[in-house]
Amino acid sequence: MDKLLITGGSRLNGEVFISGAKNAALPILCAGLLTSDDVHLTNLPLLNDVSTMEKLLSQMGLRMTSDKNAITLNGGQINRLEAPYDLVKTMRASILALGPLLARFGEAKVSLPGGCAIGARPVDQHIKGLQAMGAEITIEAGYIHAKAKKLKGARIVTDMITVTGTENLLMAATLAEGETILENAACEPEVVDLAVMLVAMGAKISGIGTSRLVIQGVANLHGAQHNIISDRVEAATFLCAVAATGGDVVLKNTRVDILDVAIDKLREAGALITAGIAGKDSLHIQMSARPAAVSFRTTEYPGFPTDMQAQFMALNCVAQGTSHVTETIFENRFMHVQELNRLGAAIEIEGHTALVRGMNKLIGAPVMATDLRASACLVIAGLAAQGETLIDRIYHLDRGYDRMEVKLSGLGANIQRVK
Ligand code: EPU
Repeated sequence: MDKLLITGGSRLNGEVFISGAKNAALPILCAGLLTSDDVHLTNLPLLNDVSTMEKLLSQMGLRMTSDKNAITLNGGQINRLEAPYDLVKTMRASILALGPLLARFGEAKVSLPGGCAIGARPVDQHIKGLQAMGAEITIEAGYIHAKAKKLKGARIVTDMITVTGTENLLMAATLAEGETILENAACEPEVVDLAVMLVAMGAKISGIGTSRLVIQGVANLHGAQHNIISDRVEAATFLCAVAATGGDVVLKNTRVDILDVAIDKLREAGALITAGIAGKDSLHIQMSARPAAVSFRTTEYPGFPTDMQAQFMALNCVAQGTSHVTETIFENRFMHVQELNRLGAAIEIEGHTALVRGMNKLIGAPVMATDLRASACLVIAGLAAQGETLIDRIYHLDRGYDRMEVKLSGLGANIQRVK
């Protein structure tokens, strides 16, 4: 199993290219199931979750040809309406096949994802929404089995804001009969990116980017071209790394407008951040002093993203002062705390809040990654720590980051993948 060996203490300098967003790419690949025409995607990130999704969709009969970060999908020969357990268990986002398959083919069988490291993460709202659209759903032998000759438009109010729930119902509604209204919809930029792509495919959606999506179902969708939005979580991860180690880095291929909260918090921590100087989609960060601690509370977009919580906590570990970090989205997303404490951090958890006392220094140690963003947090902590940090179980990192250690080495970090 691969590990990452980091010798901390180097400042980061140079330029780094930010990849396309994982959490936009996954639903957008599933949208390829909605049409028999070609769908061309660019800015596709090369990471393991994307490969797993490609495997799942090709098992269904979706044909694909790819060239580096571009892929063409064709759903003209879908012959298997099933997402099997062996793939769903490795990637929960497989649930995103449910809405498109059901809407286009009238049937779908998707393994029920189990719990996961960061929380229970049920999919009851996906099911509730599809039932409201007339689907008959049974759960048997660990599978969600959904059937509907033709989905019917409905007004759906989800109990909470759910990102993939909104995406699943949105995709289903594009081919339903009549009007669907999704209240309490997620407004995350990745949901917007999916909606933009669906509109390019001929879907009729209004309210994009708001919590009320109105969809007029159409009989068919057609092919389209789409450039996947830049990954704001990857961008924030690099920004936090620079803020923790000090340095001077330009991020390319970013979208500044979807990084507001992260940029504000990093400025509060003492970073100098300027947009657009090295080109329209660039972001320049300079950090010369020890960071100041920043408190925050995770919420849905446009609030502070849960997917950046762990990375900012790593920054707080080496910051001056004490911070409060409150996680409100997932009930168990503090698994990195014990590992950070192994590096000499001083973090106490009380309920949903972590109290982080910033330390003058962290000292490298062997640590274990527990989930994707926890892995990224340990990388940042390792870069800021003195001595060697060996991070085990980095398959979590590879699920969602495109060659992170290569990009960091390019910035002068002493980091290598070891077997
Ligand atoms: N929830 C339910 N029932 C549902 C759906 C959600 O109770 O039917 C709860 C969840 O348990 C959670 C909350 O609602 O407490 C929000 O979950 P959400 O459904 O929004 O999460 P998700 O769609 O499963 C996506 C991202 C996550 C990201 C969250 C929150 C993808 C593929 N995944 O997950 O990304 O943390 O939204 O923004 O888009 C990551 O990239 O590291 C990651 C975990």
